[in-house]
Amino acid sequence: MIEAKGGTEPSEHGVTRRRFVGLTIGGGAALLAGRPNLLRAATAANAENNSMFKIGGDLPVNRLGFGAMRITGEGIWGWPKDRDEARRVVKRAVELGVDLIDTADAYGPDTSELLIAEALRPYPKGIVIATKGGLTRPGPGRWVPNGRPEYLKACVDGSLKRLRLERIDLYQLHRVDPKVPMEDSLGAIGEMRDAGKIRHIGLSEVGPEEIERARRIVPIATVQNQYNVENRRWENALKYCEKEGLGFMPWSPVGGGRGLKDGAMKAVAQEQNASVYQVAIAWLLSHSAVMLPIPGTSSVTHLEENVAAGKLQLTPAQMKSLDAV
Ligand SMILES: NC(=O)c1ccc[n+]([C@@H]2O[C@H](COP(=O)([O-])OP(=O)(O)OC[C@H]3O[C@@H](n4cnc5c(N)ncnc54)[C@H](OP(=O)(O)O)[C@@H]3O)[C@@H](O)[C@H]2O)c1
Repeated sequence: MIEAKGGTEPSEHGVTRRRFVGLTIGGGAALLAGRPNLLRAATAANAENNSMFKIGGDLPVNRLGFGAMRITGEGIWGWPKDRDEARRVVKRAVELGVDLIDTADAYGPDTSELLIAEALRPYPKGIVIATKGGLTRPGPGRWVPNGRPEYLKACVDGSLKRLRLERIDLYQLHRVDPKVPMEDSLGAIGEMRDAGKIRHIGLSEVGPEEIERARRIVPIATVQNQYNVENRRWENALKYCEKEGLGFMPWSPVGGGRGLKDGAMKAVAQEQNASVYQVAIAWLLSHSAVMLPIPGTSSVTHLEENVAAGKLQLTPAQMKSLDAV
């Protein structure tokens, strides 16, 4: 795939990056009717305003990505009820300038990756699909790690086939399997990288010590841990990523199935004439320059709302009140 993109380089659909940004703001405008403050911020925002991050130092993406777990069926199992809407969500994300899409073989299983390929092929230039392996699905809502080397190698080949890619830009070990030495799991993924099937390697649900240990085996580009304004258990991993220049992809960035409930969030949302979801995303983007949020949704309307949050500017006082949540 998928090379670095330039400032106004046309995509395969002939849509320039500047046009992408226009679409983002335009899409936001429709949605933000009655939200004048946020619209003003969106319009004034500089498109390149700290909005990019280079994964592994050489793969530029817009920091606000999209998580494709929710485009599957109930319990992250099987096909979604409305397959057309699922494909529309993925397409719309790209139209709005999202170029980092997170998925996993375990979502469905398989259906998230298949829908991404159905929605986006031929892939527009610059799209980064980040997938994962190493977590199996015995049934709806059930997740069991498997980090055996031969299994992981088969996972990489399966994802390449479903996504119809020649190389996966970011392949993440979904879980460190406590029954398999990390050296063996990451050794296998490293072999797939050496074979040209993977560009960069990421980890998920790991702390600084595990990241250090992993980096002695293979280069690590990103860490994907559960993190949001109300759940900062992995602050130490985030700090590690900042110090080392690794991307940090917070999952459940808008609170996952539970949502976000803190009163400070609601107060800032009211002040900004925005939604709590938008405030949560804006806080993440402001909180760290290595933050790559991947909010997930099955709805085009929610997607548009979330992407518009990339242009929301929180004041220092608002950041302070949210930092204290
Ligand atoms: N590495 C891991 O172990 C791991 C684990 C879980 C997830 N992930 C990744 O992280 C991504 C995000 O995680 P997540 O989906 O659990 O959490 P999330 O993005 O925080 O929350 C998604 C939930 O919020 C709802 N939502 C999103 N935007 C909304 C809006 N603007 N208004 C109202 N509701 C909204 C969605 O419902 P609707 O569909 O109705 O919008 C969905 O139920 C996933 O897609 C996946 O790629 C990784």
